[in-house]
Amino acid sequence: MQLAMIQDKIVPFEQLEPIYLDRGLYFGDGVYEVLRSYDGKIFAFEEHMQRFARSIEAIEIENVDMNDICSRVKKAFDTAGMPNAKIYFHITRGSGPRSHICEGNIKPNFFLTVTELPATDERKTAGICVITHPDLRWKRCDIKSLNLLPNVLAQRQAAKKGCAEAILVDEKGLITEGASSAFFAIIKKNLQTTPLGSNILPSITRKFVLKAAEKIGLSIVEKALKPAQAKKADELFIAVTTADIVPVVKFDDFIIGDGKPGKFTKMLIEEFRSFTK
Ligand code: PDD
Repeated sequence: MQLAMIQDKIVPFEQLEPIYLDRGLYFGDGVYEVLRSYDGKIFAFEEHMQRFARSIEAIEIENVDMNDICSRVKKAFDTAGMPNAKIYFHITRGSGPRSHICEGNIKPNFFLTVTELPATDERKTAGICVITHPDLRWKRCDIKSLNLLPNVLAQRQAAKKGCAEAILVDEKGLITEGASSAFFAIIKKNLQTTPLGSNILPSITRKFVLKAAEKIGLSIVEKALKPAQAKKADELFIAVTTADIVPVVKFDDFIIGDGKPGKFTKMLIEEFRSFTK
């Protein structure tokens, strides 16, 4: 008989919950978003949903009604009733027998969670340390896909060295981004970061960081950095939805600046806050 085994339990194949046959599990065949709220208001909702729609189109998942997805996200957030919440959701191509090519008209699977974010994040005041790690990802990192194994393995290496993030370096020796964040350097009064392209995620937080940088008078240089340049930078930081701006005080064991969050980084954190009101 056709069967499945879940942990050590045998289940007749026809009794199997379809979610076990989700293509997201088999192939990472899906895309996701992570949003957050500040004091009861979802931040950059439109930007995140536009990026999600672009990801869905990029991997050709059909039968997704974006209006329906938007109302589900809002309904879940309102139901959770948390002022500072992290909203995660993904859509996979759906469930079915394992085959690279889908047979028949498969229905997309939607999954979402709303979880509490800590009110304060001491990483923002103390700063974090990071390591560099080869960027071993695929060639379409601009799509927010579920293919995160290289990101996970890079961050595992960082954690083994007591670091919070792995800064990825491509085969030309240029920094792309963090395993789960955008990466920035401040050199004199220039804010430098990798230009948008298929090798990095079009980070929503990155967009607001650039806006904040202009407001505080920094010049923006969208040019990839070498690790050697990052080590000598006056200030470094990462940016991500769940923590907005997080200062980097150590880069591959090099102390950055005086080993404390930089002056402009702290100004950017303040400026960023004004967008979330
Ligand atoms: N990651 N680059 C990568 C590879 C990321 O995974 C993320 C976010 C970012 C920052 O993007 P944004 O500013 O839109 O959050 C950049 C999410 C938070 C995650 O995987 O948990």
